[in-house]
Amino acid sequence: PDQLFKEPYRPQFHFTPQKKWMNDPNGMVFYKGVYHLFYQYYPEDIVWGPMHWGHATSNDLIHWQHKKIALFPDELGLIFSGSAVIDYNNTSGLGTKEDPPMVAIFTYHNMAFEKAGKINTQSQGLAYSLDEGETWKKYERNPIISNTNKKDFRDPKVFWNPETNIWNMVLVAGDHAEFYTSKNLINWTKESEFGKQFGAHGGVWECPDIFKLKVNGNGEEKWILIISINPGAPNGGSGTQYFVGNFDGKTFTSTQKEPKWIDFGTDNYAGVTYNDAPNNQRIFIGWMSNWLYARNTPTKNWRSAMTLPRTLELTKINGEYLLKNKPVAAFKKLQKPVFTSNKVQLKANQKTIFKYDAFNQSEIRFNTANKDLQLVFSNDVKDSLVLHYNSQSKTFSIDRRKSGKVAFEKNFGKDIHKSNVLALVTDKIDFQIILDWSSIELFLNDGLYSFTEQIFPQKPYTQLSILSTEDQELNDFTISSISSIWPKK
Ligand code: FRU
Repeated sequence: PDQLFKEPYRPQFHFTPQKKWMNDPNGMVFYKGVYHLFYQYYPEDIVWGPMHWGHATSNDLIHWQHKKIALFPDELGLIFSGSAVIDYNNTSGLGTKEDPPMVAIFTYHNMAFEKAGKINTQSQGLAYSLDEGETWKKYERNPIISNTNKKDFRDPKVFWNPETNIWNMVLVAGDHAEFYTSKNLINWTKESEFGKQFGAHGGVWECPDIFKLKVNGNGEEKWILIISINPGAPNGGSGTQYFVGNFDGKTFTSTQKEPKWIDFGTDNYAGVTYNDAPNNQRIFIGWMSNWLYARNTPTKNWRSAMTLPRTLELTKINGEYLLKNKPVAAFKKLQKPVFTSNKVQLKANQKTIFKYDAFNQSEIRFNTANKDLQLVFSNDVKDSLVLHYNSQSKTFSIDRRKSGKVAFEKNFGKDIHKSNVLALVTDKIDFQIILDWSSIELFLNDGLYSFTEQIFPQKPYTQLSILSTEDQELNDFTISSISSIWPKK
C-alpha cells in the first residue's frame, strides 16, 4: 500500500479508493468503535459506470482500511447512493437484539427500464449485514419503496428519531425532498414534501440529509436539511446547500427561502453525515469533486478523494444561523509544526516569502486584521495558486487558473471562484489552510466559511508569498504555525 502513496497526485491524508472510480460517500455509520464509510464505486474503470458500494473502515476517520466491495448491482438495478443504520432493536426482524443488523437503504437504478424509455427507473432497496458490514444480503422483497411516476427519486438518508421513536427517511425527487416514516425499516409511509419554493433549483436535488444541532452549543436547537444540487452551485456545477428550520418527525419547515452554501469552493459535493457518531458529534464527509470535470482529472489508477471529515456546528451571529464546518479533532494528531513565528509587518504593496519543500502536505495557520490580502502558492515551474481576501467587498476568491494542470477539461481552470459576501467575518480573520497533493481546503474563522478545491500542480508548491495588496499596511499579521502532515500508514 505504501507504493500507492507515491503515485502522482495521490492524496496522503484524504480518503481515496485503492484503484478505480469513486463518487459520493454512502452508508456512513459508527458501530462498535468503527467508522464505516461506503461509497459510490465502479471497480472496472476510472470513470463512472455501473455503481457498487465500496467499503472502508477507520477508528479515527483519518487512517482507513480498505474492505471488500459491499454491494453489487443486481437485476433490480445499479446501487446508487444511500445510508446505513444499526437496527439496535431489531425492528426489521433481520437480525436479533443481541446481534443487531446493519441495514443499508439505497437507490436502485434500473438500466433496462432506462433503455426502454421508462421514467420510473429509480426505487429504494434494502440490504443487511449480520457481521459488521463484512458480508451483505439483499432483502428478498426489494424494492421497499417502488416508484411509479418519477424520473429522479433517490439517495435515501435514514435515521432513528429518538423524539418520535420511529425511523425517518428523507430522499429527493427532482425539485423537492420527501419525508417518510417507518416502524421496521421495510414499510414506509410518505409524510410530507419540502422544497419547491425554497433554495436553489439550477439543477436536480441530490443526496439529502437532516439532523438536529444545538445553537452555539446551548439551549436552542434547530434542524438542518442538507441538499446537494447539480448543476446550480454558485461557482458552477455541483454544490451543497442547506436550510435551517424545524422538523416534527413528519414535516420540515423553514422561513429560509434563499440557499446557504456549505462550501464556496467547487469541490465539495454530495456530502452527508454519520449516523450514531460518538459524543453527539455531527461528522460530515463530502466527495471532493464536481460533475463538471470529475471524469477528466489527471490521475491514472484511481479517481477522486473525499474531503477531510468535518465536524458540523451551528452558530447564530447577529440573528443569522450559520453552519460551521472544520476538520475533525483527530486531524491535529497528524501535525508536526515545522515553523512558528510571530508578527509579519508589511508596508502597503509589499510582500514576504516563505519557502518550504512540502507545502502540498501541510497546514498553515495565521490570523490578520480584516484587511486586503493575497496569498500565492507557487513552484519553480511557474504554477501558482492565488487566494485573495478583498476587504472592501468582503469576498474571498481562489484563482486556480494557473495552479498546475488545468487543461484536461474546459471548466476546471476557466474562472476565478468567488464567495458570497462573508457577512460574519468581523475585525479579525483566522485562516486555516490545508494542502494535500491534489487539494486545498481553507477554513476561515474556525470553520465559519470553508472553501474546498482540487488542484494539480506539476510539482509541489515550495513558496508562499503573502502580499498586502491595497494601499494599506499589514502590521498585524501573525503566522501561528506551518505544520507538516505525516500520517503513519
Ligand atoms: C450524486 C449522484 C446521486 C446518485 C449517485 C450515482 O453525485 O448523482 O444522486 O445516487 O450520484 O452515482
